[in-house]
Order: sequence, then structure tokens, then C-alpha cells
Amino acid sequence: MEKEIYWSRFAADFETHNHYVAGQKNIAAIKDTLSEQNLTGKVLELGCGNGTYTKVIAHKAQEVFATDFSEEMVSVSKTKLDSLKNVCVEQQNCFSLTYPDSNFDAVVMVNLLHVVENPEDVIKECKRVLKQQGILIIVSFTTEGMSALAKLGLIYRYLKTYGKPPATSQSLALEKTSSMVTNQGFDVSETFLTGHSSKAIFVKALLK
Ligand SMILES: C[S@@+](CC[C@H](N)C(=O)[O-])C[C@H]1O[C@@H](n2cnc3c(N)ncnc32)[C@H](O)[C@@H]1O
Repeated sequence: MEKEIYWSRFAADFETHNHYVAGQKNIAAIKDTLSEQNLTGKVLELGCGNGTYTKVIAHKAQEVFATDFSEEMVSVSKTKLDSLKNVCVEQQNCFSLTYPDSNFDAVVMVNLLHVVENPEDVIKECKRVLKQQGILIIVSFTTEGMSALAKLGLIYRYLKTYGKPPATSQSLALEKTSSMVTNQGFDVSETFLTGHSSKAIFVKALLK
């Protein structure tokens, strides 16, 4: 498997870095939003990083497969999530998952879709592994709905912490993301912006 090099550099303390860059209040808002979702059954998390959102995702689920492409992120998450008996942490590339077709009741990705090349291909792969009527949840930081001052602050903190963003990253807007999901055969059921000074898109869809 090809090696993930950008995010892996921050695996040991990604959560701390992210609290500084995105703001603890905004991260808490995403957790609150996720905790309101009825994620039951077998759930797949893509790009779990060091497991910031996994505990919330795992709250009502029977089983969670928390996955990431980065070996280092997977290693940190394995240790961190060890006490959660319904969570299994695995290394997976979201473009070519090793799971069979129609295998999951829900797929959740937080802050993954805006950093990868060809987000449509990730959605296609989600469609493959989801059961019919399965739930797709996309949450991703965006500049949509942010004040100019908040955007400048975010850019400054990001560059100071992570350096130049990956060439593949982009700011995803609600409308564009909803169209991507609809084009892949999903029914979009909910879209909104979550967060306070920093914002994230929230898109929920059901596989037809
Ligand atoms: C911005 S971080 C978000 C991590 C976590 N979800 C969070 O919000 O704290 C993006 C994550 O996606 C992972 N990632 C990047 N490309 C990936 C791919 N092709 N397949 C799976 N994960 C990937 C990175 O290793 C990184 O952990």
C-alpha cells in the first residue's frame, strides 16, 4: 500500500493541533451534531485520524470500523480507542476499501472529503459498501458561512501548524457536496452548516 505522508506527521498529537487550528468549540459542535444522529448497526468511519469523533459515532452503534490510510494514525487510534469494545481500527484506503458490497448500515467521514483528490470516487466507494437505505454522513470543514476575519484566522493557524495544505484539498460547499452525493444515487435528507467561528458542512443522505 502506498504511504500517507501529509497527515501522518501529526498523528501523535493531531487532536491538540486541531483544537488550536479549528477551535475546541467548533470541534465540540461537530461532536454534538454527530451525537444527534441515530447511528445504529454496523458503521464504517473513513479517515478517522486519531479517533477524535469515533467515540461519538460508536455511542449507539453495534460495531464501528474506524479506518484511516495513515499507518501512524491507525496506530494512535488503536491505543486510544482500545477500551471501546465495539470499535475495530483498521488501515484502509477510502478509494479502494477491502470490505464486501452492501456491508454497512452507515458510513461516516469527518474532515476527509475536503482533503482528498476526486471526492466523487470516495462517494462511489461508499455506495458500494453501503446496504440499501444505508446512511451516508459527510462532515467537512469549509469556509462557507465564515466571516472574512474568521477565515484569515483559520488560514493563519493552519499554515503555522500544518504548513502548506495538501494540493488535493479544497473548501467544499453544501450545494456542491449535495449534488455530488445525489449524482451517485443517494437521496439527500439533511444539509446544514455546523460550528461557530469555524464552520463545517453537514450532509446526510440515504442510499436509494
Ligand atoms: C484532516 S484529517 C481528519 C481526521 C479526523 N477525521 C478528524 O477530523 O479529526 C484527514 C484524515 O484522512 C486520512 N486520509 C487521507 N487520505 C486518505 C485515504 N485515501 N483513505 C483513508 N484515509 C485518508 C488522513 O490520514 C487523515 O487522518
